[in-house]
Amino acid sequence: MNKVYLTWFVLLLGLCLTQVEARSIKKIETVGPSNNSCWDYFMLVQRWPYSTCQIVNASGSPCLIPERIHSWTLHGLWPDNINTYPTHCGNETFDNKKIEGLEEELLMKWPNLYEEETVDSLWKHEFEKHGTCAQSLESFKEQRSYFTNTLAYFDKWNVADVLAQQGILPRIIPYKASTLVNAIQKGYDKIVCPGCGHIEGFGQILSQVYMCIDQADTLVNCPTCEKECHMDQPVYYQPNHPKTFVDPSVNSV
Ligand SMILES: *[C@@H]1O[C@H](CO)[C@@H](O)[C@H](O)[C@H]1NC(C)=O
Ligand SMILES: *[C@@H]1O[C@H](CO)[C@@H](O)[C@H](O)[C@H]1NC(C)=O
Ligand SMILES: *[C@@H]1O[C@H](CO)[C@@H](O)[C@H](O)[C@H]1NC(C)=O
Repeated sequence: MNKVYLTWFVLLLGLCLTQVEARSIKKIETVGPSNNSCWDYFMLVQRWPYSTCQIVNASGSPCLIPERIHSWTLHGLWPDNINTYPTHCGNETFDNKKIEGLEEELLMKWPNLYEEETVDSLWKHEFEKHGTCAQSLESFKEQRSYFTNTLAYFDKWNVADVLAQQGILPRIIPYKASTLVNAIQKGYDKIVCPGCGHIEGFGQILSQVYMCIDQADTLVNCPTCEKECHMDQPVYYQPNHPKTFVDPSVNSV
């Protein structure tokens, strides 16, 4: 075999092997009503507040984790495709009257962390950007249903539960990347996408977990992932309130 063919063979073999996991790509965002017609599945995005705040702080915006928040929280529920995702599909605006009675639950599970934004800013942003695209599905037609359905998915496929079941709790020292990533994959028994951030001068942090849900409310394999974790670097999963944190592994006598 000549060298060129051998190189191609090795490259193709590499590609085939990586197909076992979700393909890693940069998706293209499409905007506006004329682009809303097609989406295949939802991506449910949960985030770890401490890591989110490290990223937000690093970007220059002040970030605050409310005292009441001790666990994973929602980022959003995004209609998605393999290579693109639609946004702003309709002109219905967020109306807090439509979420009456849900506020307390939303404040716990779907809080805004940007200190300078209003309490309902994240709900408004997520509904108008993503919720309007979900409205093509009958069970998501009403604005309120975007919130109730997303909360139900969050309760059902909660990252905190999956990690805690495998003994993985926030701590000051980092985890081996494979420990965290494997626990997440194993916990869902589907291809989900752990998402890491990288903080300059600090290191790699577990910031979000993305999972895919089809239009019949079933967890499915995610076909593509973004923001993957570098497996050769440790990953931080730190407590949301370090000042009052008591490390259970240190405390047990
Ligand atoms: C729809 O998406 C295409 C491809 O990304 C883009 O070029 C076009 O401007 C979008 N149309 C609208 C109305 O946003
Ligand atoms: C973000 O910045 C605020 C204000 O400086 C600080 O109180 C907070 O601890 C920082 N959060 C993280 C996670 O670094
Ligand atoms: C939304 O857009 C539709 C179609 O373009 C239009 O008929 C309707 O009046 C708009 N509604 C609002 C609240 O702007």
